[in-house]
Amino acid sequence: MKPSAIYPGTFDPMTLGHLDIVRRASEVFDRLVVAVAETPRKQPWFSLEERIAMVAEATSDLPGVEITSFHGLLVDFARAQGIRALVRGLRAFSDFEYEFQMALSNRKLAPDIETVFLMTSDTFSYISSSVVKEITSLGGNTVDLVPPCVQTMLSEKHKRQDREATES
Ligand code: COA
Repeated sequence: MKPSAIYPGTFDPMTLGHLDIVRRASEVFDRLVVAVAETPRKQPWFSLEERIAMVAEATSDLPGVEITSFHGLLVDFARAQGIRALVRGLRAFSDFEYEFQMALSNRKLAPDIETVFLMTSDTFSYISSSVVKEITSLGGNTVDLVPPCVQTMLSEKHKRQDREATES
C-alpha cells in the first residue's frame, strides 16, 4: 500500500503549477490531503471557503485527493490526520531557501514527519499566485495559468474590483 501525504498551501489562488503538483503527488500517494491554510497574514484575495471550493473543483477528477482546511501548526494537523509525509512543490532554485527553512522548521517541531519535494513541470515553473493576481488586477488574461474554475472566479473578482473603483 502506498502511503498518505498532505499538500499544504494558501492557494490564493490555486494555479496550474499547484494542480500539476497535486496530480504528480496523487500518483505517488494513495491518499493526498490538500490542506488549505487560512494564512491571515498573507491577506488572501479569496476567502478560505472560496479557496477550498476552487481546489475541490480543480481536483475533482483525481482519485484519492481530499480537500480540507487547517489552522495552527502544520505538523499538528499532520499528526491529527495520522499522516507523516508533507508534499511541497519546487519550481526553481529561488524556492529552495524558503522551502528549506520551512522543511527544517517542521522537522525540528516533528522529527517523525518528512517533507517530500516534487518538481513542477517546466511549463508551469514561472507561475505564482502573486503573478496571477497582478495580471488579473491589470485586466490581463490568466487562462493559461490557472484551472478554468479559478479563471471564472478571477474574472468575477476583477469585475467587482472595477465596480468598487468606479463607485469610490
Ligand atoms: N506552482 C505554482 N506556484 C507555486 C508552486 C507551484 N508548484 N509552489 C509554490 N508556488 C507559489 C505560490 O503561487 C505562492 O506564490 P506567491 O508567493 O506569489 O503567493 C507561493 O509559491 C507559495 O504559496 P503556496 O504554495 O500556496 O504555499 P504557502 O507558502 O502560502 O504555504 C504553508 C505555506 C501554509 C504551507 C505554511 O505557511 C504553513 O505550514 N503554515 C502553517 C503554520 C506552520 O506550521 N508554521 C511552521 C512551519 S514554517
